[in-house]
Amino acid sequence: MQNVQEYIIKNKQRFLDELIQLLRIPSVSADSAFSQDVFDTSEAVKTALENAGCDIVEICETEGYPIVYGEKIIDPSLPTVLVYGHYDVQPPDPIDLWNSPPFEPVIKETEIHPEGAIFARGACDDKGQMYMHVKALEFMVKTEQLPCNVKFMIEGEEEVGSNNLAVFVANNREKLSNDIILISDTGMIANDVPSITTGLRGLSYVEVEVTGPNRDLHSGLYGGAVANPINALTKMIASLHDKNNHITIPGFYDKVENLSLEERAEMAKAPFSLEAYQKALNISSVDGENGYSTNERNSIRPTLDVNGIWGGYIGEGAKTVIASKAYAKISMRLVPNQDWQDITQLFKTHFESIAPKGITVKVKPHHGGQGYVTPIDTIGYQAASKAYETTFGKKPIPQRSGGSIPIVALFEKELNSKTILMGFGLDSDAIHSPNEHFGVWNYFKGIETIPYFYHHFTEMNK
Ligand code: BES
Ligand code: MN
Ligand code: MN
Repeated sequence: MQNVQEYIIKNKQRFLDELIQLLRIPSVSADSAFSQDVFDTSEAVKTALENAGCDIVEICETEGYPIVYGEKIIDPSLPTVLVYGHYDVQPPDPIDLWNSPPFEPVIKETEIHPEGAIFARGACDDKGQMYMHVKALEFMVKTEQLPCNVKFMIEGEEEVGSNNLAVFVANNREKLSNDIILISDTGMIANDVPSITTGLRGLSYVEVEVTGPNRDLHSGLYGGAVANPINALTKMIASLHDKNNHITIPGFYDKVENLSLEERAEMAKAPFSLEAYQKALNISSVDGENGYSTNERNSIRPTLDVNGIWGGYIGEGAKTVIASKAYAKISMRLVPNQDWQDITQLFKTHFESIAPKGITVKVKPHHGGQGYVTPIDTIGYQAASKAYETTFGKKPIPQRSGGSIPIVALFEKELNSKTILMGFGLDSDAIHSPNEHFGVWNYFKGIETIPYFYHHFTEMNK
């Protein structure tokens, strides 16, 4: 790959400016107040793909937000890389905790990013990482070094479950046919410890509604005599873990893939400092399932977490009341072989069965998806590994992540192709949190590394 560093140096400021423009549009898919902005972002992505050298770019309408599809087919007999990413972002809340407005990007130095980081919602997840691919394509096209065919599929509903993308993929198998799928929407261990994500967890997300009396009651007149929905809900939730922090839902672990001691020993080789981990989060101790390390707990083991809980009086001062209803949102992260629909059903049956007398329970499934694990003895992984070796000067470590991109398992099922997860973010980049950011160094390192993947993948396919 000729001159990639040179090309980046020459275009540095423009590459930053373009990303900053994209980050200014508040494409929050979860909140309909931002609907026009999400549509506007799809147009901006279309223009970016055209400028980068795609021959065909289309806005594909769906029942929700559009999918931007682009392609440059140079020779049908050559391999095809399909790039997936998302242009929607998480809501910025809680706004008060941002040090600068979430949609007014600023570059600031941090301890971990001495060359500066771009602070904005979506900087890392996923506009910044998606845009690395657009700029890598621009480089390859403008310098006449694109070695194979490329397709782009950038969606606007990843953060809300990709329901319409699933339909689009099922209906467009031919259009989307490819030899490998390439995604930058994950992270790596550290800037001096490159890693490639080889696994994602599945997900089942449910909401529960617990109902007691038919109206809110005076807690003096009725307190002690009827079941209190909030007391009941918290007890029910507490019972979902035992003293070893195992999940108590019957059948929950039945299909969980157990790793061999060798595989676990291999995993334990990845550099990790418990002390630094605790310090970064300002906690005096970690917590989780007995018998597993922190890195195992957040990647190869399933979890159950309350994401939100509400009910009763939460205004200023005190109000003596027994609420009629209480609610919680609960997510379960799943590992290979656990089917998300089965787990959702197991949760529902169990949660309904533990309701105390005088309480009724409704479980509403939100969305979910299967986990994913990719082998490392494939051409795709080896090509990615070589690319990192070239630009980082050391071999990347394969690492399973705890996060979820449910559509990846679906890609394998519908398109019959493997996915390579080349993530350049860091866990400390605060995705989904206030002050999300993406290292400037990481942004350019991504743009530099991606063309080498194309090169090695094409060579190794010969
Ligand atoms: N990019 C993330 C997933 C991710 C981040 C995976 C870091 C691995 C490392 C993605 O945008 C995301 O947030 N996914 C959601 C699930 C989705 C169905 C809302 C998640 O993991 O919570
Ligand atoms: Mn993402
Ligand atoms: Mn996300």
